[in-house]
Amino acid sequence: MSESTHRVFRVMRAIPEGSIGVTLILDAALPAQPGQFVMVWLPGIEERPFTIMDDDPFSLTVARIGPFTRALAALQPGDRVWVRGPMGHGFDPIGRRHLLVGGGSGTASLTLLAKRLRDRGEEVVAAIGARTADALMLVWRLEELGCRVILATDDGSAGHHGTVLDAIAPLLDSRWPDAIYGCGPEPMLRALAHRAATLHIPAWVSMERVMKCGLGICGACHCGDCLVCADGPVFPADEFLRACEK
Ligand SMILES: Cc1cc2nc3c(=O)[nH]c(=O)nc-3n(C[C@H](O)[C@H](O)[C@H](O)COP(=O)(O)OP(=O)(O)OC[C@H]3O[C@@H](n4cnc5c(N)ncnc54)[C@H](O)[C@@H]3O)c2cc1C
Ligand code: FES
Repeated sequence: MSESTHRVFRVMRAIPEGSIGVTLILDAALPAQPGQFVMVWLPGIEERPFTIMDDDPFSLTVARIGPFTRALAALQPGDRVWVRGPMGHGFDPIGRRHLLVGGGSGTASLTLLAKRLRDRGEEVVAAIGARTADALMLVWRLEELGCRVILATDDGSAGHHGTVLDAIAPLLDSRWPDAIYGCGPEPMLRALAHRAATLHIPAWVSMERVMKCGLGICGACHCGDCLVCADGPVFPADEFLRACEK
C-alpha cells in the first residue's frame, strides 16, 4: 500500500484498555515491520499517526487524550477508518533475550515486536508502566504472546510501586537482556537510553512526536536534525540522545 493513498478498513472488534483507551481489531491484514506506524484519517475530523499494534489482523490501540483519539476510540464494529502506510523505520532486533519497556500507549509499539520474537522462540520480558492500574495497556496481549510481564504503577495499584525503570533494575543489574527496546514518554526514554549506554547494552527507542504529513515534507515532527516520521520513529538509543540534546 502507498504512503500517500488511503485504504479503508472496518472495525471488527473493540476491546477496552482499562479506563483510558481501546484496541480496535480491523477486518484485514496490513503487513508491517514492528515499530512502523500508519496515518489514520477520520473524514471531517483529522489525520493522526498510530503505531501498528498487530499486522494480522491489523489492529490499533488508542489512548483517549483529545478530540481525534476520542473519536477513534468511540468507533464500533462495522465503522470505517482510512489508513495510509505502513510508514517509517521499525525495530531491528538482535540477540535472543529481549527487554521491551513501554509507558502508557507506547506499549502498542512493542507488541508486534513481541509477536515476531516469540514466533522465533526467543525470550521476551515486557515491562509496562503507567500512572495507575487502570491506565496499563495491552497487558493481556503480551501475556497471550507468552512474554514475562513486569508491571509498574506510580501509585502502586498494580505491580511495582514506582517507575518502570526501577522495576527493571534487577534485570539490568544482572545484564540479562541482549537488547532493549522502548516506547513511551520522552523523559522515560531518555533515562532508559542513558542506562543502556552505561551498561553497554544495545538499545532502540520509538519516538512519538506530533506529525502532520508523515512523509518527511512538512517538518512538524523534527527533533534535532531528524524528522521522526522519515528517519524514525525507531532510533538507536545513542542517536535519539544526540537528537534530543540539539
Ligand atoms: C509514530 C507515532 C505513533 C503513535 N502511536 C500511537 C498509538 O499507537 N496509540 C495512541 O493512542 N497514540 C499514538 N500516538 C499519539 C497520537 O498520534 C496522538 O495521541 C494523537 O494524535 C492525539 O490527537 P488528539 O486529537 O486526540 O489529541 P490532541 O488534542 O491533538 O492532543 C492532546 C494533547 O496531547 C499532545 N500530543 C498530541 N500528539 C502527541 C504526540 N504524538 N506526542 C506527544 N504529545 C502529543 C498535544 O500537544 C496536546 O497537549 C502516536 C504518535 C506517533 C507520532
Ligand atoms: S510529519 Fe511532516 S515531516 Fe514528519
